[in-house]
Order: sequence, then C-alpha cells, then structure tokens
Amino acid sequence: MQFVLLVGAGSMGKTHLRAYQKMENVKVTGIVDIRNPSLLRLKETEYSFFRTLEEAIETLDRVDVIDICLPTFLHKEFVEKAAKLGKHIICEKPIAGSLEDATSMIETCKANGVQLYIGQVTRFFPEYVRAKELVEAGAIGKPGMIRTTRNGNFPKNAWNDWFANFQSSGGVILDLLIHDFDFLRWCFGEVKRVYAKSLTGREYRKKDYALVTLRFESGVIAHVEGSWAHDGFYKTFEFAGDKGNFEYDSRSCSIKTVIENQVVGEGYKTINQSPLNESPYYRELVHFIDCIETGKRSIISPEDAYKAVEIALAANKSIQINEPVHLNN
Ligand SMILES: NC(=O)c1ccc[n+]([C@@H]2O[C@H](COP(=O)([O-])OP(=O)(O)OC[C@H]3O[C@@H](n4cnc5c(N)ncnc54)[C@H](O)[C@@H]3O)[C@@H](O)[C@H]2O)c1
Repeated sequence: MQFVLLVGAGSMGKTHLRAYQKMENVKVTGIVDIRNPSLLRLKETEYSFFRTLEEAIETLDRVDVIDICLPTFLHKEFVEKAAKLGKHIICEKPIAGSLEDATSMIETCKANGVQLYIGQVTRFFPEYVRAKELVEAGAIGKPGMIRTTRNGNFPKNAWNDWFANFQSSGGVILDLLIHDFDFLRWCFGEVKRVYAKSLTGREYRKKDYALVTLRFESGVIAHVEGSWAHDGFYKTFEFAGDKGNFEYDSRSCSIKTVIENQVVGEGYKTINQSPLNESPYYRELVHFIDCIETGKRSIISPEDAYKAVEIALAANKSIQINEPVHLNN
C-alpha cells in the first residue's frame, strides 16, 4: 500500500485524486492546497486538508509518495522540498519552466535517493501508443513527415489565472505542445533543429497559437500545431513514410491506415477512446505506483521530461530570434 500526499487540488489534482480513488494499493492520506476545500469543490470530511506541505508532513503518520499538481512555476520548489523529505515524487508536466530548474530537481532527487516521475501522459493515450507501435512495426516504412495538432481553449479556470502569465506557464508551447514533443521524441529519438512561429508575446494574452517544425537526427520532420485559441479541444496526427501513412482525429476516434495507396483492413480501426475505458491519467499513475512498489524502470525518465522542455524552450527561443535553433544532443 502506498500512502500518497496530494499537493495541489485544482484541475489536475482532482484528476489524480479520481485515479487514486480507484486503486486498491493507494491511500490518499492528505491534500495540500492554499485554497479551501469548499472552493475546490471537495468534501472536507473525506480527506485531511492542509494549507502547507510542512503542516501535512508534521501531522500525517505516513507519507510514501508526494504527488505535485501545482502550477508549473512551483514544481521546482515543491519537488525539491519533497526530495529532501525523502519521499518519492510524482509531478505533473512540464517538469519545469527552465532547464536550470529541471537539472536542479533531477539532481536533488538523485542526491536524496528518491524517484521522480513526470506526468508526460501522452505515452498512456491508446491512440498515441498505437501510432508508435505502427511505426515500430514498419507499417509506413521509413517515416518521413509527421503532422500533429493539439487545439483547444485557453485554460480559464485555473488558480490566479496562472496560465495567462507567460513566466509562470511558458505559454501554449511549454504547457500544451510539450505533450507532442515528448511523444514525438519517444517515437523518433533526438531532435536536431527547431523552428517556430506563434502569437506569443503579442497582445492576445489569453489566446495563443503556435506552429513548430522539428527536424530529428533521423531525418524525420514533424510539423506540430498547438492552440489556445480554438473552441473545444481536439487532437490529430498524421504519419507518412515511404510505404504508407496513417492518421488519427480525436473527433472521430479512429486511426486510418493507408499502405501503398490501399486502405488497410477494415479501413477505419477504432481505438478504445470510449469514456467507459480507463483514463490515461489512471494508467499513468498505476504505472508510476507500480514502479515505486517494484523498483521497475518507468517508461518516462526525468531526463525524457527534461528533453521535452529543452525542445519547448528552443521553440520559444526560435520565435524570439526568428531563426531555427539547433540542439546539442
Ligand atoms: N497532464 C495534463 O494533461 C495536464 C493538463 C493540465 C495541466 N497540467 C499541469 O498540471 C499542473 C497543474 O495545473 P492545473 O491545471 O491543475 O492548475 P490549477 O490552477 O487548476 O490547480 C493548481 C492548484 O494549486 C493550488 N496552489 C497554488 N499555489 C499553491 C501553493 N503554494 N501551495 C499549495 N497549493 C497551491 C491552487 O489553489 C490550485 O488548486 C501544471 O503544471 C499544468 O501544466 C497537466
């Protein structure tokens, strides 16, 4: 049984809480948030609530894991506090807003002998897992060009409107497109060059839109689109190689595969995206807890999370300097 202390009970904190509630080997021993439970729409009687991490640690008999679902700019402070307390850590993506912070967090966890798991959850979405499997099975031959889209509304219901502050959230690229950067790097390895354009820095404080081109060391080119300016959320991807292509659109929940100009099999292969299925956040947390319990290696290392931030920051830099940015791997 793992005793988990949840820090931050906003949108993602509640998502994690719902996942833990379904796990027989996890007990959420307390919740830390600077807002009152009633504001968070949580029942005060169900959990022990604390306003600070220190207060929770002083009060609770046992904490094995600290799960941090705080705004990104607070990740470093709380991950390092948790590491120094000797607790294993689960922390939402992105690991941090700067590479210096990410390095310091990774080193502090290593120095204190605790595990650090960053919630790069796209690795647990069935359609993305399927895409990776298709590439690895050689379904499209040698991959050439990839297009991904992740479009939605600006996240308006956050505490203190922290997403609107570029210094706190890193904007649409660091906050949202980090999912695609991590996923694409998972599929294709290291990125060599990043070029990006966006609305970032213009007066549309609560709207952001970005187009990022990644050139991988393997020669694959990915065109990544992300938006905080759309109505309603959807994701798409399209993978093309020298033998065929496949595409996915969350609005139809299917992957369509075309090999050598022939639609393969039934044509449309439905991916288990039904709301009745396990949530990817649940799968992710089951995986992290399993790694903690068994010592198994996670499919996401802290270094993977660092690399995703490196790509995002290179994209933000490319926008600033209006030039491609080269990464040293
Ligand atoms: N994996 C995903 O799909 C996904 C989706 C959305 C957000 N996120 C990430 O999750 C993290 C949290 O985002 P969110 O949308 O839940 O934000 P949120 O604003 O909804 O929640 C943050 C919570 O932290 C609390 N808080 C703020 N400062 C605190 C402090 N010092 N001590 C204790 N509590 C404090 C706030 O009261 C709030 O309840 C971010 O890093 C974000 O990028 C991930």
